[in-house]
Amino acid sequence: MLWKFFYKILSLIDPERAHNLILKIIENGFLPKIKTKSFPLKVMNIKFRNPIGLAAGFDKNGQTISQIHKLGFSFLEVGTITVLPQEGNPKPRIFRLPEDKAIINRNGFNNDGLTLIKNRIKYFRKKNNSSNIKLGINIGPNKDSFDRIKDYTKLIHEFSKYADYLAINISSPNTPNLRKLHSDKNFKNLIISIKKEISKLDNCPPILIKISPDLSETELNKIIKETIKHKLNGLIISNTTIKRNVKSQHKKETGGLSGKPLFDESTKVLIKARKFLNYYSSDISIIATGGIYDGKSAYIKILCGADLIQLYTGMVYEGPLVIKNILDQLDRFRERDNIKNWKDVRGLAKNLNEAYKIVENGLNKKI
Ligand SMILES: Cc1cc2nc3c(=O)[nH]c(=O)nc-3n(C[C@H](O)[C@H](O)[C@H](O)COP(=O)(O)O)c2cc1C
Repeated sequence: MLWKFFYKILSLIDPERAHNLILKIIENGFLPKIKTKSFPLKVMNIKFRNPIGLAAGFDKNGQTISQIHKLGFSFLEVGTITVLPQEGNPKPRIFRLPEDKAIINRNGFNNDGLTLIKNRIKYFRKKNNSSNIKLGINIGPNKDSFDRIKDYTKLIHEFSKYADYLAINISSPNTPNLRKLHSDKNFKNLIISIKKEISKLDNCPPILIKISPDLSETELNKIIKETIKHKLNGLIISNTTIKRNVKSQHKKETGGLSGKPLFDESTKVLIKARKFLNYYSSDISIIATGGIYDGKSAYIKILCGADLIQLYTGMVYEGPLVIKNILDQLDRFRERDNIKNWKDVRGLAKNLNEAYKIVENGLNKKI
């Protein structure tokens, strides 16, 4: 109840200020520990407490790493981190679209940069050997970098020791031309350079590519082929969209749209990706993000092919109990549908309609 009141107050403040306030509250440990159901699972050879993570962009600078597990998250994706610190675009650059339960942001990779954030993460690793949060590190190039591919390889080099996985962000709509890295030739060049860098390292965590929801089927297929060919470990589907299917006051703001209106779009890409992966008999992992805000939307992502799920905007609108609620609802689906192992239902739905039907009516066949 108190949280609801606090959230109401926050919704009256400028979104970026409210966000920074929340970060400070979490960083300073003023979070109650919320008890959540345990759903242990192993993905990319990493043991997760449950399938839910906090998506990139919430904690760009690694301020909350030692506290955020209290909300129930099993993993946190810090970033996007660039080599040099970066201010990002002029403010205001985050807009709430409450009628749509959505956000538009055009932050432009504002972050403290490699050196400072690496020190923060190093400190965390030193203090928390047996930490109960897994850490994804999301990396991207500086806006004015002369060699963007070199930025990625430097960041991989610097962070490989400290990350449970690395996310290569090629899909933010707020860094000019970044999405051009999805194109065939650019993507190949990027992956070849990444592989070269990995080959120099003693140890490298799993590498995932975070893609846009605005890709054509052909582009997606090519990206998947290359990802498999070069034995990368997974895809994060998806970043925000530049499409607009919203009605709120700020609908005309430029930037990436997240939240409820992104759900169907990103899930359709997820379904296609899982189908391609099945076609190539590849077991590459998928982290699904985009419009998850309750147990139903989380279960749909799993039925459509997700190994793990992440959210951001769902927490802004549903509050900090959202993870507990999703896990409680997933537990009820697990019982109703007699699910022994989440992998047994991963990608079971042929299309989005079928996934919605399963969620409503239950799986009427034995798995
Ligand atoms: C304010 C804001 C900032 C974001 N910043 C980043 C970022 O720096 N890097 C990134 O890969 N994704 C970023 N994202 C995208 C999210 O990680 C996620 O992919 C997207 O919002 C879809 O999930 P959601 O609908 O649960 O929010 C950001 C999203 C929001 C709302």
